[in-house]
Amino acid sequence: MTTRLLSVDPEYPQPDRIAQAAALLRRGELVAFPTETVYGLGANALDAAAVQKIFAAKERPAYDPLIVHLHEPQALHTVVGGPVPALVWRLAERFWPGPLTLILPRGRAVPQTVTAGLETVAIRVPAHPVAQALIAAAGLPVAAPSANRFGYTSPTTAAHVLADLEGRIPLVLDGGPTRIGVESTVLDLTADQPTILRPGGVTQEALAALIGPVRLAAQPPTEEGAVPAPGMLPRHYAPHAHLVLFVGPSLAAHNAMQRRLQAALQAGKRTGVLLLEEDRALFAPWAARARLEFLGAETDLAALAQRLYAALRRLDQEGVEVVLARAVPSRGLGRAINNRLQKAAAEVVRLED
Ligand code: TXA
Ligand code: MG
Repeated sequence: MTTRLLSVDPEYPQPDRIAQAAALLRRGELVAFPTETVYGLGANALDAAAVQKIFAAKERPAYDPLIVHLHEPQALHTVVGGPVPALVWRLAERFWPGPLTLILPRGRAVPQTVTAGLETVAIRVPAHPVAQALIAAAGLPVAAPSANRFGYTSPTTAAHVLADLEGRIPLVLDGGPTRIGVESTVLDLTADQPTILRPGGVTQEALAALIGPVRLAAQPPTEEGAVPAPGMLPRHYAPHAHLVLFVGPSLAAHNAMQRRLQAALQAGKRTGVLLLEEDRALFAPWAARARLEFLGAETDLAALAQRLYAALRRLDQEGVEVVLARAVPSRGLGRAINNRLQKAAAEVVRLED
């Protein structure tokens, strides 16, 4: 199959181009498209055979359920089982369209292929004008995971999608780089207490301010061979390189990173470092020998999130074997960033105060 790349205006997507993509979805084919978080790989969520193609293209295991994307909250009743709780409407009013995914009881119209056999379904209304236009034009709920090979770093540009899926899908809508850069927050509303299964674009603080206490599920390391809980696969979003994550106060992290960098270079390893603007002077002595990627200022968590996946992919493309990174402050979007760094890490070094 040849994969067509079709560029669309990210603000005012051309209706004729959207119509071509929508026609593919209606025929049971796959379309990759930009959302405000990452690129998604969409199929008609009500067509099990179409959804099956997503799992095949991504080489995604059947036990990992997909998110159903809607054009507007009013369409919830088509995919949710039973009446929609008032809490959902409050969340929808504040955070939709946007980077929040809600776990709710599954409606019968949603095939179990989408939910990996679960009686719950993940739902989100994306804010990106291209995603909005596409779902509206298709007139369907659209099942879409991130448009990457399973287990690899999520795509934040159309080029990333092609790198992973070229030849496997008919169409990629290119709407430029995505604004948020990390995936949506997955909030389980079927648990005793609202529980974040995956931190993401909507922060725990923002959720708690609206609905009261919100639990953050522990992200347990899973035993070898066990099927992990949905949303909590341990090593995920992973680059090919051996990523070492340093967690702890910045002074200790800097020292440990510099020692590790020195050792890796001495061992002849091609080494990359994900750095904050604040680290620039400290790491300047290595600029000629290591690949330094600056993500932005520690205070600008949104910029760090937006650039993270592209930086990891660049390092991989350049054949870097070891990547060193340090955790950011664990608040707001920082929780999502640290969660993705943890999932990308082959090794975590914890440092004391
Ligand atoms: O930002 C996003 O959420 C992007 C864009 C394309 O919308 N999508 C995305 O999809 O990240 P995916 O498939 O890569 O991640 C969906 C996550 C997975 O961790 C999955 O296990 C979890 O949502 N999930 C889906 N359905 C679930 C369910 N019924 N219960 C618990 N977790 C669920
Ligand atoms: Mg994914």
